[in-house]
Amino acid sequence: MGGLSHRSGTVLLCGVSGEANERCRQALERARFQVIEEIASIGDDPPSALAILLGVDGPNACTQAIQELRLRAPGAALVGIITQPGDASEALVQAFRAGIIDAVDARGGVDDLVPSVKLAIERRRLQISEERISEAFTRELGRRARRLGEAVLRIEDAYEETLAALVAMLDLREQATAGHSIRVGYYTCYLAREVGYTRRALQDVYRGAVLHDIGKIAIPDAILLKPGRLTDDEREVMKTHTVIGRGFVERVPHLHKAVVIPWCHHERWDGQGYPRGLAGDEIPVPARMFALCDVYDALRSERCYKKALTHAESLAIMLPERGAHFDPELFDVFRQIPESLWDALHTASMQANNRFETMLDVFASLESATMVPTEVRPTEEIRL
Ligand SMILES: [Fe+2]
Repeated sequence: MGGLSHRSGTVLLCGVSGEANERCRQALERARFQVIEEIASIGDDPPSALAILLGVDGPNACTQAIQELRLRAPGAALVGIITQPGDASEALVQAFRAGIIDAVDARGGVDDLVPSVKLAIERRRLQISEERISEAFTRELGRRARRLGEAVLRIEDAYEETLAALVAMLDLREQATAGHSIRVGYYTCYLAREVGYTRRALQDVYRGAVLHDIGKIAIPDAILLKPGRLTDDEREVMKTHTVIGRGFVERVPHLHKAVVIPWCHHERWDGQGYPRGLAGDEIPVPARMFALCDVYDALRSERCYKKALTHAESLAIMLPERGAHFDPELFDVFRQIPESLWDALHTASMQANNRFETMLDVFASLESATMVPTEVRPTEEIRL
C-alpha cells in the first residue's frame, strides 16, 4: 500500500465483497482515486479528501464500523453502498443515523459511484467548514458576552463607589446621624421586599434611600448642625434639602429612578408634608415606605437631645401616625416585621460594606426572623 496522497483523494473500500468490490475499485481508480481496503491504512493523519465506502446491505451491518471510522477519520465523507439484492431500506436508515452523508445503489452498475463519492467529499468539506465557523462564532460570542459582563460589573462598581463616597461625605458632615443613611437603606429595602419589590426595583429604592438627604449638602452648618430648635425661617431653609436633593439626583442618569425618595421623603399621607404637600396615593410608594423607616431609625437612635428608644417605644410613638404621617397599609406591613429582624438589620448595616449585593445577602440570611408583639406608648417629638 503506497502513500495516501492522490490527485482525487483516497477511498477506503470497506465491507464490500467479491465482484462488487472489484467493480467499485476499478471505477474509483479510473477516476484517479487511491483505493485502500484496511482501516489501519488510514494512519494517524487522515487525508482531507477521504471517502469511505461501506457495504450497508444487512441490518446493523455498518453501524459499528461507522462509529469506529468517525473516530479514526472524523473529516472523512462516509458513503453507504448497496450491492446485495433485496430491501436495504432499514440498513440505510441505520447508516444515515450513524453518520453516512450519502448512499449509492451499485446493484445495477457503478456509474453513480464516482459522482457520489466526489459530492460526498465536497459536502463533508462544507460541513466541517460550517462547524468550524459556528464554533469560532460561538467562542467569539462567549468572549464578547464575558467582556460585556465584566464591563457592566465595573460600571456597577463605579456607581456603588460613587454612591458610597457621597453617603460618607454626608455622614461626615452630620456626625449625629452617622450610619443613618445605610441603615434606612437596609430598612426601606427590607420593607419593599416584604411588599413584593423585585431585585431591580429594590436597587432604585436602595439608592434613593441612602441618598435621601443628599440635598443637605447645600444647607448651611449653622442650620444643619444647630443643637436647639430651628426658627421658622431656618426650618424653611432646611425644607429645601428635598428639592435640592431632587435636582442633584436627577442630574445623574443611573440615579434617575431613585429620585422619588430624596424628593418626597418628607411628604405625609395626610398631605401636611413638604415640599409639595402631596397626600395619600399621590406620594410615590418608595417615599411612603422610606418615611416609616426614617422615623423608626430616628426614634431608635440616640441624638444629642434624646436617648435611643426601644422597638416597642418607637412603634408606640409611630402608631398614632398611622393614616396621618404614614400610609396605613404600609404601616401594618411595617409593624409585622419583628424586633429581632430590625435589630439584625441594624447590626448588619453597621458592619457590612454598603454594597447593594451585600445587603441582599444579609436579607437572605435573615429569612427565619420571627415576630415580636409591640406595646403602645405616648408621642415624642423627633427631628428628622
Ligand atoms: Fe430629610
